[in-house]
Amino acid sequence: MKITKTKQSRINDVDFSNLVFGTQFSDHMLIAEYSNGSWSEPEIKPYGPLSFTPAMHTLHYGQAIFEGQKAYYMEDGKIGIFRPEANAKRLNHSARRMFMPELPEDLFMEGIQALVDLDRQWVPKAENHSLYLRPFMFGSSEFVAARPSEKYIFCIICSPVGPYYSGDVKVKVEETFTRSASGGVGSTKCAGNYGGAFFATDQARKEGYTQVIWTDHANHELVEESGTMNVAFIIDDTFITPPLSDRILAGITRDSILTLLRDRGIVKVEERPVKVEEVVNAAKEGRLQEAFGMGTAAVISPITSIGFRGTDYAIATPQDGYAMRIKKELTDLRSGAAEDPYGWML
Ligand code: COI
Repeated sequence: MKITKTKQSRINDVDFSNLVFGTQFSDHMLIAEYSNGSWSEPEIKPYGPLSFTPAMHTLHYGQAIFEGQKAYYMEDGKIGIFRPEANAKRLNHSARRMFMPELPEDLFMEGIQALVDLDRQWVPKAENHSLYLRPFMFGSSEFVAARPSEKYIFCIICSPVGPYYSGDVKVKVEETFTRSASGGVGSTKCAGNYGGAFFATDQARKEGYTQVIWTDHANHELVEESGTMNVAFIIDDTFITPPLSDRILAGITRDSILTLLRDRGIVKVEERPVKVEEVVNAAKEGRLQEAFGMGTAAVISPITSIGFRGTDYAIATPQDGYAMRIKKELTDLRSGAAEDPYGWML
């Protein structure tokens, strides 16, 4: 792989004690281009602008997908990337549904390792910090005819990050707007799923909430996701999370948490449809012990209240509760403080 190193690192311009999520980028990026049915050899070069014309396909038709993953500074001084194969596979799931070319998994795996290795100084060392890796792909042909792009660019950029949310996470059950519909693209990480969510999220913010809980498109009766995360509830003594479908993103954090909970027998687990009514009734009856979002960016984000039709239900966020326990299990595995029986850290 061709590697061109930066002449002047920007790392000393970054205040690692005051990182704002996804706003600063490391010295290098990886680029590969697809045309005439095949991918070019990837290239690593200094992070910087790409050039394109106003007719670039993705600006018009949004064939754009991305991944989110993290590299951690480990106790032995090594850098570990968490479950990168899972991201490589999910990128290709998104690519297939968005009618984009799949990326060979070895290109993804070799590229991400080479990039993180080169920018290893950018992996923050502090607790709850990491290097957020953002692989993405978009249609780069120059035409506005409404047909699939013929050329694509795959790129990876890296951003040193700290915790995603600070303070209370108040969510509102969203009953008007919809994130995804059956037969749609909700299970992919296509750019439009996120762009399409900003309006509803802003409405909720104006009402004093941090995020929304998305409900099903048909009747707004079933809980689906929360903000950009999968969602789970502890009702009585059971961890309950909605099952995967073509409307729900197959979160890698979600999968890791389910695996840990089941293998370690931490709590009874149910993956099944969850009605808004069930959650609200549990909250009213004092049986909703905890609620949280699960995602790469925020890892586990305890929800402090749920708003439903004008009433806010406070939810406990106990320091010795399940959210904190799961977070510690994951953090210890990622830092090397605990064993990694799954081989999740590369
Ligand atoms: C994630 O946490 O998995 C995300 O996709 C968040 C990202 C959109 C910032």
